[in-house]
Amino acid sequence: MKVLVTGGCGYIGSHTCVQLLNAGHEVVIVDNLFNSKPSVLKRIAALTPEPPRFYKGDIRDRELLDAVFRAEKIDSVIHFAGLKAVGESVRIPLTYYDNNVYGTIQLLHAMREAGVHRLVFSSSATVYGELAPVPYKEEYPVSRASSPYGQTKIAIEYILKDLAAAEPDWSIILLRYFNPVGAHPSGTMGEDPQGIPNNLMPYIAQVAVGRLPEMLIYGNDYPTKDGTGVRDFIHVMDLADGHVLALEWGAGNSGCRAFNLGAGKGYSVMDLLHSFSKALGRELPYRFVGRRAGDLAAFWADASLAREVLGFETRRGIDEMTADVWRWQSVNPNGYPDE
Ligand code: NAD
Ligand code: UFG
Repeated sequence: MKVLVTGGCGYIGSHTCVQLLNAGHEVVIVDNLFNSKPSVLKRIAALTPEPPRFYKGDIRDRELLDAVFRAEKIDSVIHFAGLKAVGESVRIPLTYYDNNVYGTIQLLHAMREAGVHRLVFSSSATVYGELAPVPYKEEYPVSRASSPYGQTKIAIEYILKDLAAAEPDWSIILLRYFNPVGAHPSGTMGEDPQGIPNNLMPYIAQVAVGRLPEMLIYGNDYPTKDGTGVRDFIHVMDLADGHVLALEWGAGNSGCRAFNLGAGKGYSVMDLLHSFSKALGRELPYRFVGRRAGDLAAFWADASLAREVLGFETRRGIDEMTADVWRWQSVNPNGYPDE
C-alpha cells in the first residue's frame, strides 16, 4: 500500500515508517518539522529498501495536502502529526486545539476530496480519564481528560466516530497508546525531545549522558508497590509493528474501531530506573520530589482486543527498552544532527 504518514519525522512516526517500508509498503511523509529534524529521513533511508518521499508542510495547509494527494496515489493515511506536551497544552490550549483538532479536520477534508477513506489515528490512554478502573478496556466510555492535550484526542475520537457513522465507506482505527519508550536497535534512531524532556525515559537518558544532573522522581507515596507511579511502557518498535498490523487490518474492514496498544502490564518509575542502570552499568543520581499535578498513580492496558483482532503482541521487554534507549542516547548524545 502507499501510505501517507503525517508527522512521520517524529518519534513514533519515524520508527513506524521504518517498519512500513520494511514490510513492503510505500511511504509519503508530510511533516512541518516543528518537533523533528530533517536528518531523520537519512536515518530512515539507511534502514529500509526504499527511502520515504517527503513533503515539508503543515497539515492545516489544505493546498499542500491537496497537492500531495494529487501527486501521490495514496491508499491509506497514518496520522501522527500533532502537539503532545501535556503541561504546555494547559498554558496554550488554543494552539493545541488548532494544531490537533483543526489540523485533523483539514486532513479529513483533503482525504475525502481525494477519495481516500482509510485512516489510522494516534490516540492516547489519556482518553480514559482519571477515574477509569485498571486495566483500561476499549469498551469503557471516554471520559474528561486531565489536560487540553487529552481533550484534543477525545474531540478527534468523537469526530472520527461521527464521520464513520455518517459515511460508511470510511475505515478508521483509533490506536490508544500507553507509554511509548525505546529506540531502534541500530542506535541510529530514537526520541529527540527539544528542550528539557517532559517524559520519564528521555529524562533518564539525558541524566545518563550528562546533559541533566539528576533524576527528579515525582512522588514516592502513591499506593503502588514502591510508592512511585506505574505505567504500561511499550517499546516504540512494538508500537510501530502495531501500526503495520492496524493498517493492514483496516484495509479489509470499515467503520471506526479503537484498540489499546500497550503491553498489558505496569512497571514502576523505579523499575525503569533500575533497568536503565543495568544497561548503563552504574547507578543514576535521583531524588524524590512531590507529585506532579495531573499524574495518575497507576494505569495499564487490557491488551487482549488488539491481540485477538489485530494479532498484536508486544515482543520487547523493559530491559530491551532501556538498553535500546541507552544505545541511541550514547551514540547520539545531542540527538539528531540539524541537517
Ligand atoms: P513527535 O512530536 O515526536 O512527532 C510529531 C510530529 O508531527 C513531529 O515531527 C512534528 O514536527 C509533526 N507535526 C506537529 N504538528 C504538525 C502539523 N501541524 N503539521 C505537520 N506536522 C506536524 O510526537 P510522537 O511522540 O511521535 O507522537 C506522535 C503522535 O502520537 C502524536 O499525535 C501524539 O499526540 C501521539 N501520542 C504520543 C504519545 C507519546 O508518549 N509519545 C502517547 C500517546 C499518543
Ligand atoms: N516521572 C518522573 N520524573 C520525570 C518524568 C516523569 O518521576 O522526570 C514520572 C511521572 O510522574 C509518571 C511516570 O514517570 O509517574 C511517567 O511519566 P511520563 O511523563 O513519562 O508519562 P505520562 O504517563 O505522564 O504521560 C503519558 C504520555 C501522554 C499521555 C499520558 C496519559 O506521554 O501523552 O501518558 O495517558 F497524555
